Amino acid sequence: MEMDLKIDSRIKLNNGVDMPLFGLGVYLSSEGDECINAINWALDTGYRSIDTASFYNNETSVGKAVRESSIPREDIFVTTKLWNSDHGYDNTLRAFDKSIKLLGLDQVDLYLVHYPVQDIRKETWKAMERIAESGACRAIGVSNYLTNHLEELLASCNIPPTVNQIELSPYCFQSRMDTVALCRQNNIAVEAYSPLVRTKVFDDPKLVTIAERYSKTPAQILLRWALQENIIIIPKSSNQERIEQNADLFDFQLSTEDMDLLNSFDKNLLVCWDPSITP
Ligand SMILES: NC(=O)c1ccc[n+]([C@@H]2O[C@H](COP(=O)([O-])OP(=O)(O)OC[C@H]3O[C@@H](n4cnc5c(N)ncnc54)[C@H](OP(=O)(O)O)[C@@H]3O)[C@@H](O)[C@H]2O)c1
Repeated sequence: MEMDLKIDSRIKLNNGVDMPLFGLGVYLSSEGDECINAINWALDTGYRSIDTASFYNNETSVGKAVRESSIPREDIFVTTKLWNSDHGYDNTLRAFDKSIKLLGLDQVDLYLVHYPVQDIRKETWKAMERIAESGACRAIGVSNYLTNHLEELLASCNIPPTVNQIELSPYCFQSRMDTVALCRQNNIAVEAYSPLVRTKVFDDPKLVTIAERYSKTPAQILLRWALQENIIIIPKSSNQERIEQNADLFDFQLSTEDMDLLNSFDKNLLVCWDPSITP
């Protein structure tokens, strides 16, 4: 099964939409040439999914690169997200309209609630459902939702989230297994942000040893691990060589022993948000 993975492999979301397992993150890719070049290099390399957010301030560049690409629009999967200060029913509808205008696209493939903002997130989800029903986005989902946030949502929603995007790597996978398992039980696709742990573990001798075994880089081992766990990944780079390196994952397979080894690396290491502080 894993050997069949390809750069354009897709997984079927719970609403029937196909989403690429592999894509490019553009957080901290600045609006303008930096972001546009990154997307052009990625599309040339075979990436077919781009993960942005209103918070990243680069939706204009993402839309421009996608619209001006020779690759048909329907072959590129575009995700954007609702920022924390835009929660609430009316605000969410307005924020989505603004994102779609900045992107200059007729449709977004996936719209995510960026973070489970306390008290107001149920109202927000009602607007997300309305956006999904309008057809202006093909799928809706959440990000940074842990077990308690997901249970609350699943108990009250009409349309369940298709995706939950959370920080995941071998260094925080077992400690988040309750959330991952809940997603899997409910057919919610699991997507990893910061899958490279923002480079912070590249010199971990345990990881380096595995990388040497396959003549791959630590970055490639972390990404391949996620794919073999059926986790969607969106590694970020603005550098052409690293964009290519991060896509060079489809000519090798981690053994069961090395997957088990990677799954013993957990130390609850988070490099971004810790949503467990939000009730
Ligand atoms: N939903 C959320 O709350 C949330 C939070 C964080 C991130 N995200 C999404 O997830 C994406 C990825 O996460 P991230 O940007 O936080 O971190 P990441 O992908 O784990 O790491 C990105 C960092 O690694 C460097 N890098 C990339 N490939 C490399 C390689 N092969 N060798 C050495 N260094 C490499 C990049 O620098 P260069 O650019 O210089 O290569 C950048 O500094 C984001 O861009 C964003 O789309 C979502």
